[in-house]
Amino acid sequence: MSDSRLRVGVIGVGAMGLGHVAAYRANPRCELLALCDTDAAWVERAREECGARYAFTDWEALSACDEIDAVSVCLPTVFHAPATIAALDAGKHVLCEKPMAPNAKQAQAMADAASAAGKLLMIGYNQRLGGDVRFLKRCIEEGQLGDVYLVHTAWRRAMGVLPPPTANRPDGATYNRNWFNERAMAGGVCTDLGSHVVDLAMYLLGFPAVKEVVGCAYTKFGPSAAARQGTTFDADDHSVGFARFANGASMIVEASFGCYIEREVILQAVYGDRGGARRESGQPLKLFGQQGDAYVTRTPEIDMPTISPMDHFVECLTEGIPPLIEPEEGVAVARILDGIYRNSGT
Ligand SMILES: NC(=O)c1ccc[n+]([C@@H]2O[C@H](COP(=O)([O-])OP(=O)(O)OC[C@H]3O[C@@H](n4cnc5c(N)ncnc54)[C@H](O)[C@@H]3O)[C@@H](O)[C@H]2O)c1
Repeated sequence: MSDSRLRVGVIGVGAMGLGHVAAYRANPRCELLALCDTDAAWVERAREECGARYAFTDWEALSACDEIDAVSVCLPTVFHAPATIAALDAGKHVLCEKPMAPNAKQAQAMADAASAAGKLLMIGYNQRLGGDVRFLKRCIEEGQLGDVYLVHTAWRRAMGVLPPPTANRPDGATYNRNWFNERAMAGGVCTDLGSHVVDLAMYLLGFPAVKEVVGCAYTKFGPSAAARQGTTFDADDHSVGFARFANGASMIVEASFGCYIEREVILQAVYGDRGGARRESGQPLKLFGQQGDAYVTRTPEIDMPTISPMDHFVECLTEGIPPLIEPEEGVAVARILDGIYRNSGT
């Protein structure tokens, strides 16, 4: 192995952090040098398991390590801004998991810190790097759908799958994961699943300037389900929103941790004045349009690969290419989520 490999650290070694660890270990262009997690016993076991050199329990200590070039921030969302800004200020490049931050103010502070430090900040909106999404984006850019005036974007889970309050480490130890259900920890479905589908819609729409956002954030099922398990739930479990853009386009967004529907659905329905598209979980991408007088449906062959955010982050840093996900895009998504919460009266 050459010394020119990118030296990376992962902050937060929970469900998502383990995904980043696996991706960096598998990437020959980088060396996984350090892990950080407040669970001291776990972070040491994880370090041994993956062969990293250092284990920290404090993100400031990891960021102060001179040997590290870049970090992944895979912490509960409430910690994204402070951990990312600390790393950027210490001269590290950062791949921060989605959502960028609990609100647009913190997201903007992260984007500003990246500019001030002159370091790369990428947000882990992995869904828009999917081959079918990138294919659809190319169809839109080629004008196949004409003027896209509406995107309906949703991620709904059926009743019975509210986020569990605990999870197991790979070694079987149990840890608290109730932060997804707690408002003070930036939990809630609009922030969690909603951020993914708002990002997808904004990407397909070309990140237009926002004119107005309204929404409703409901807390319907979580508190009673949590009480039965002896835990708490005070975040939103089903949220809806509507955004109107300066260019005349609009977006309908819906996200649910559990509601009375048949099955989980991730949906992006795109409406243009020359064609439409539907991306729905479990089904191939469909394109709708006219051929002469006939109304036609196509199931195109997807010729674009799905890109891993971690591999892309490493590639950007080692090849000097621009990232496919810009910090200001994360800020724009956070502004819409802010609008849904603010206008819902919650
Ligand atoms: N891109 C995706 O599809 C996707 C999927 C799941 C989660 N996520 C995002 O990844 C992030 C992490 O989610 P997760 O599911 O891995 O959560 P998790 O609860 O499984 O893991 C969080 C880890 O952070 C550790 N931790 C908590 N506070 C800490 C602190 N102050 N300092 C250091 N370590 C600390 C915990 O011990 C835990 O190991 C969230 O922002 C979430 O939204 C993204």
